[in-house]
Amino acid sequence: MRIGVLTGGGDCPGLNAVIRAVVRTSEVRYGSTVVGFRDGWRGLLEDRKQRLRFDERVDQILDRGGTILGTARVNPTILREGLDTIKQTLDDNGIDVLIPIGGEGTLTAAHWLAESGVPGVGVPKTIDNDIACTDYTFGFNTALAIATEAIDRLHTTAESHQRVMLVEVMGRHAGWIALHAGLAGGAHLTIIPEQPFDVDEVCRMVKSRFQRGDSHFICVVAEGAAPMPESMTLREGGFDEFGHKRFTGVAQQLGAEIEKRIGKDVRTTVLGHVQRGGTPTAYDRVLATRFGIHAADAAHAGEHGKMVALDGTDVTLVALADAVDHLKTVPQDRYDEAAAFFG
Ligand code: F6P
Repeated sequence: MRIGVLTGGGDCPGLNAVIRAVVRTSEVRYGSTVVGFRDGWRGLLEDRKQRLRFDERVDQILDRGGTILGTARVNPTILREGLDTIKQTLDDNGIDVLIPIGGEGTLTAAHWLAESGVPGVGVPKTIDNDIACTDYTFGFNTALAIATEAIDRLHTTAESHQRVMLVEVMGRHAGWIALHAGLAGGAHLTIIPEQPFDVDEVCRMVKSRFQRGDSHFICVVAEGAAPMPESMTLREGGFDEFGHKRFTGVAQQLGAEIEKRIGKDVRTTVLGHVQRGGTPTAYDRVLATRFGIHAADAAHAGEHGKMVALDGTDVTLVALADAVDHLKTVPQDRYDEAAAFFG
């Protein structure tokens, strides 16, 4: 068989571990050939590819961040319009099954292709952990470890100066990184996109913490967090590839409001792409490797139109249609749980 593989959307620690496992499993278990398409769906739109062989470099990429195939964000409209070109490229290269590794956008395109009869098995990736039907995506654990270390470091400088520290973490639509980093890092408040925040309430919490004699206040803010409309107006920062509005620097803007309203000394740290770069944690290497093995097995078993997923500790297959139906956001009870430590 000839297996095609690509990595789409934002990069994520663990992508190379998936590629390595797909190549190893396909070659050794099934005697198949693997072709990697360059820069996500662009490689299929422009017929740019490379032959992947386990013994040539692929064996050595387990611990490397990023993706050896390159990646790109492609607007969904361009993808939809380019489906025929993609199919032609797959035919021209004799690809029997495609394994796209990616987030919401990539998996949606994989679903469209599957609907039109192109065999494919998706692999979910995102540091945001917001893909439905899987308990975890690889990359999340690495991002969480980086965010937690940053918060640990901010505690000591914050208490030395009796400051309010805001830490902005990634998470455009879902607050999983913020929620977990807040718990792991002992934050005094965590603000996530799923729960619009009230600036006056944040200020009240900060004030009462200092009035009680505490030395500092650490607040984790997900980049997609938004205030209640009557509470504060956020400056917008353009649109993402899905046409969703982006806000620039929510933590920075909230920090300025806190300083203005209660006169506390506030400092803001935006972790940004540091959370996505570098070597994956052991957990992510294992999860990514298991996803790669199962995706290759599914591709050879004719289990198409599916996505590999983590269910507890088992890797299973779910319908791509279900996985792309909605994003997995933080439920109310999980936020309420964390709120035990707020204030
Ligand atoms: O989708 C994952 C993500 O990490 C988001 O949390 C973040 O908003 C986005 O990627 C940033 O992507 P880019 O690399 O396009 O700046």
